[in-house]
Amino acid sequence: MVEYQTHPYDVLVIGAGGAGLRAAIEASASGAKVGVVTKSLLGKAHTVMAEGGIAASLANVDERDNWRVHFSDTMRGGQYLNNWRMAELHAREAPDRVRELEAWGALFDRTPDGRILQRNFGGHRYPRLAHVGDRTGLEMIRTLQDHGIHTGLEVHMECTVLRLLTGAGRIAGAFGYDRERGHFLLWPAKAVVLATGGVGRAFQVTSNSWEYTGDGHALAYEAGAELLDMEFVQFHPTGMVWPPSVRGLLVTEGVRGEGGVLRNSEGRRFMFDDIPDLYKQQTADNEEEGWRYTQGDRNARRPPELLTRDHVARCINREVKAGRGSPHGGVFLDIAWIKTKLPDGPAHIKRKLPSMYHQFQQLAGIDITAEPMEVGPTTHYMMGGVRVDGDSQMSTLPGLFAAGEVAAGLHGANRLGGNSLSDLLVFGKRAGQYAAEFAKTNSSAAIDGNQADDAARLALEPFDRGAAGENPFQIQHEIQECMQSLVGIVRTESEMREALGRLEHFSARASQAGVPGHRQYNNGWHTALDLPHLLTVSEAIARAALLRKESRGAQFREDFPSKDPEWGNYNIAIRRGPSGEMVVDRRAVQPMPEELRNIIEEMK
Ligand code: FUM
Repeated sequence: MVEYQTHPYDVLVIGAGGAGLRAAIEASASGAKVGVVTKSLLGKAHTVMAEGGIAASLANVDERDNWRVHFSDTMRGGQYLNNWRMAELHAREAPDRVRELEAWGALFDRTPDGRILQRNFGGHRYPRLAHVGDRTGLEMIRTLQDHGIHTGLEVHMECTVLRLLTGAGRIAGAFGYDRERGHFLLWPAKAVVLATGGVGRAFQVTSNSWEYTGDGHALAYEAGAELLDMEFVQFHPTGMVWPPSVRGLLVTEGVRGEGGVLRNSEGRRFMFDDIPDLYKQQTADNEEEGWRYTQGDRNARRPPELLTRDHVARCINREVKAGRGSPHGGVFLDIAWIKTKLPDGPAHIKRKLPSMYHQFQQLAGIDITAEPMEVGPTTHYMMGGVRVDGDSQMSTLPGLFAAGEVAAGLHGANRLGGNSLSDLLVFGKRAGQYAAEFAKTNSSAAIDGNQADDAARLALEPFDRGAAGENPFQIQHEIQECMQSLVGIVRTESEMREALGRLEHFSARASQAGVPGHRQYNNGWHTALDLPHLLTVSEAIARAALLRKESRGAQFREDFPSKDPEWGNYNIAIRRGPSGEMVVDRRAVQPMPEELRNIIEEMK
């Protein structure tokens, strides 16, 4: 028998980024007793890495915008593999969620007449991103935290969930440990909301910090819920490439939204070389028109730097591979050039992009008002995740909900920038509301003590092996290297098969991981316990990417470089088979109602 403390809740929210906090606020407002578990400190979440803004058709800068255009942009960006119901709800409800955030104290940048200011971002037809300079995610977290903390939430900081507990075919709670002291904790709950974010740490170059090891994805999978779209990993086109210690750190798309341009080592704006048919009509074919667009000329078309992220990232990759990259393996992103157009250029850049100015000055010794930045793709976001019902966000396991990055559906094959922050608000609220309802109408499921004991026993095994066991840091490093080089931005069947072979080997080694020392804040132990999650999501990504024999959105197969219309009819689902094997198969995309189909036709 293992010792653990028990904290029962109606609704347990795992994760305290934008989606987790918004879910917790909503569930609490419905009268549920709510606990929030966060792996890190409250306020430290990947949400802050969505810097450039929240996408919502407020139509403050261009009155032609509305939910229908936003819906159609999102579906096109996702290459029509999106869950159309989620895309509809998201586009309809995002404006109210932004106004609500403002009412709760978020301080947005303003238009001259005092409304929330909106900026351009890739794939959005009109300026749509409500923003706070380039710190929008941070302001969102600050606001939700300030608001949430007064609603009676109980927060368990620096705790990792090791297993979701189930009973009678539904969720019963969660089991984990406190990272500081190493104590085990049991959280019985009538409903659980996963809001654990993404999987960036499965790759070597990422904007994600240490927490993002795919925990929610793996926990849901192990508990029997289905995953969807795991092949679609978003490589944000612009992360820092130099110095090495900050490689992957995000450089917001807001830089390009404000007029920043991409150049190769020959000084050429290579993004003009390759404009996809789907976007040809909307994209400028000369530099002057692109500039006018960023300055609000409604008759101008967007510069090619504001094409969707999947495309921009691949173009950068191509330039680097062709030997036309920057000295440290990226390309140049230049915002300084706008001083030739705007007399107060440097001051304007500092006002619009204060974080980027400081980030480059302090970390790379670069003054972005005077010189170009070096940037390259960085693993930023996971479109795939837990398969959920579009309205309620409940997974295929009753009582288990998921919201934000850990949930699949809204973004299809590729997410538009800015749609993550609105996703967190819209579906965080919905998950919280439906989880509270579920908790009201269902009694607690009995906790199976064996599940908790088993999880605790497995968690302690690395101490038995001590320093003689496999080094967890080394295994983690090798997984990241393998995923980066074999299942990254450009994929082929042979490389992915090789990756799967290596993952199997890593898995065997991870089961022999050993750590010396004790349970109090032992980083080696934490890393050993993250490994199974990393391995599950890595395998899921590789298997789904292997099955999808085409290139679409974020998935680029060098051996199948075109889009295959047949594959446009399918998502890929993943679940745990009866003997623990990973089962991967196709799921037909649900037919779209006529009203929504008409919107898409009309917007074309
Ligand atoms: O580039 C950015 O500011 C990131 C935004 C996002 O991922 O939504």
